[in-house]
Amino acid sequence: MHRDCESIVLREEEIAARVKEAAAWLDARFFGTVPVAVCNLKGSVVFFCDLLRAMRTDTEMDFMAVSSYGDETVAAGRPKIKKQLFSSVEGRDVILVEDIVDTGRTLVTLRKFFEERRVRSLTVVALLDKPARRKVNVSADFTCFTVGDAFVVGYGLDYAEKYRDLPYLAVLKRSVYEH
Ligand code: PRP
Repeated sequence: MHRDCESIVLREEEIAARVKEAAAWLDARFFGTVPVAVCNLKGSVVFFCDLLRAMRTDTEMDFMAVSSYGDETVAAGRPKIKKQLFSSVEGRDVILVEDIVDTGRTLVTLRKFFEERRVRSLTVVALLDKPARRKVNVSADFTCFTVGDAFVVGYGLDYAEKYRDLPYLAVLKRSVYEH
């Protein structure tokens, strides 16, 4: 385990097994169609790649970036769309892949964004849900894991842009972010 982490929340194998289940759930919905899978950068990128490669359904990939945290551990204010999609998604089935639903503000912003672009359908898949921190009433259509309020990093999730490359999900030591 990385020296800045205090405990492992989800091991690599546990994540892989659950990603397979998420992929099977999506295949049951979409096999035979070609949905556009949208990765909300940067936190979702690891989950996105593993999920799409575990699916049998053909997908197109697209990317956007909505940011709420900056370098802080507490989500602040209204999320900003920092990067738009490359392609038009009008009339398409869209699978939005998120790493975590925390206050829910990012997901509200994204649901509105896709609604305005007149997608055929929107399905949200989230790796993590932190219901204890929810500020708005929103949820993913498929959640891989529900976690507590601890600050977690790894498998795409960062603190100040670090730890995204850890293959597991771990609780960050408080001493790393409390000065
Ligand atoms: C994180 C995470 C989600 C969002 C969830 O993104 O990736 O998109 O916050 O928070 P919310 O439910 O409180 O809105 P972040 O802004 O940290 O950007 P990043 O993915 O590039 O790390």
